[in-house]
Amino acid sequence: MKGTSPVGARNEQEAAAWVRAMFGRVAHRYDLANHLLSFHIDRLWRARTVRRVRPILERPGARVLDICCGTGDLAVALQRVCPSPVMGSDFCHPMLVAARGKMARQRTAPQLFEADALRLPLGDASVDLVTVAFGFRNLANYEDGLREMRRVLRPGGMAAILEFSQPPHALFAALYGFYSGRVLPWIGGLLTGSRDAYRYLPESIRKFPNAPALAEDMRRVGFTNVSYQRFTGGIVVLHVGEAAG
Ligand SMILES: C[S@@+](CC[C@H](N)C(=O)[O-])C[C@H]1O[C@@H](n2cnc3c(N)ncnc32)[C@H](O)[C@@H]1O
Repeated sequence: MKGTSPVGARNEQEAAAWVRAMFGRVAHRYDLANHLLSFHIDRLWRARTVRRVRPILERPGARVLDICCGTGDLAVALQRVCPSPVMGSDFCHPMLVAARGKMARQRTAPQLFEADALRLPLGDASVDLVTVAFGFRNLANYEDGLREMRRVLRPGGMAAILEFSQPPHALFAALYGFYSGRVLPWIGGLLTGSRDAYRYLPESIRKFPNAPALAEDMRRVGFTNVSYQRFTGGIVVLHVGEAAG
C-alpha cells in the first residue's frame, strides 16, 4: 500500500518534503480554491463526517485529534459539537498560520500544533477520536499512517478518514476524470499560482487505494467494525473504524 509518490520523489522523505512544500505554496489561497473547486460541497462532506462521529464527540471529556488539519475547517466543525477542546495538527507551518488567522476571532478555537501524522507526539491509547480530511492520501506511507492512528486511540475509540476516491460508475468517473484532470489544474493554478499542486491532486487520487481496499487495510492494522460511505457519487468516501475495547 506504500504512500503518495509525487513525480520526482525518490523515497518517502522526498515525498513528504514535496507535499509539505506544495501545501506551503498554496496555503494563502487554499480555502478559496477548495470551496470554489468543490462548489462548496466540501463543507457538506465535513458536516456529514461530524454527524457520523457525533456519539464520540459527545462523550464527557472526549479527547479529539484532527490530523493533517490544514487550515482547520474540520477541526472547527468538530469543535462546534464537542464540549472539550479539540486538537488539530499538521506538518505544514503556513497551513497552521492560515488556520490560526481564521480562528483568531472564535472563542473556542481548536488547539493547534505542528506534527507529522506518521509520528504524533501523543501517548499510546490517549485519544477517543482521530479524524483526517483530505490529508491521508498525501501521507508518504499509508500503513504507517493507519498504525499511528490506531496507536493513539483508546479502546472504544474511533478513526474517521474522509478522502477523495475514484467514483465506481464508469460514466460519472469519466466526467469527473475530465473535470479533475483538465479543469481543476487550470482553475486551481490560476487561483493559487501553483498548477503543480492541482496536477498532483488527480494523480494522487488515481493512485490511492479504492474504498474496499482501504477498508481492508484498516482491518489489517487492527481496526474493527470498519465501514465506509460514499458521498457525491463516490468522489469522496468516509471510512470509519474502531479500536477494539
Ligand atoms: C488537502 S489538505 C487538507 C486540509 C484539511 N484537513 C481540510 O479538510 O481542508 C492536506 C493537509 O495534510 C497535511 N499533511 C500531509 N501529509 C502530512 C503529514 N505527514 N503530517 C502532517 N500533515 C500532513 C498537509 O500539510 C495539508 O495541510
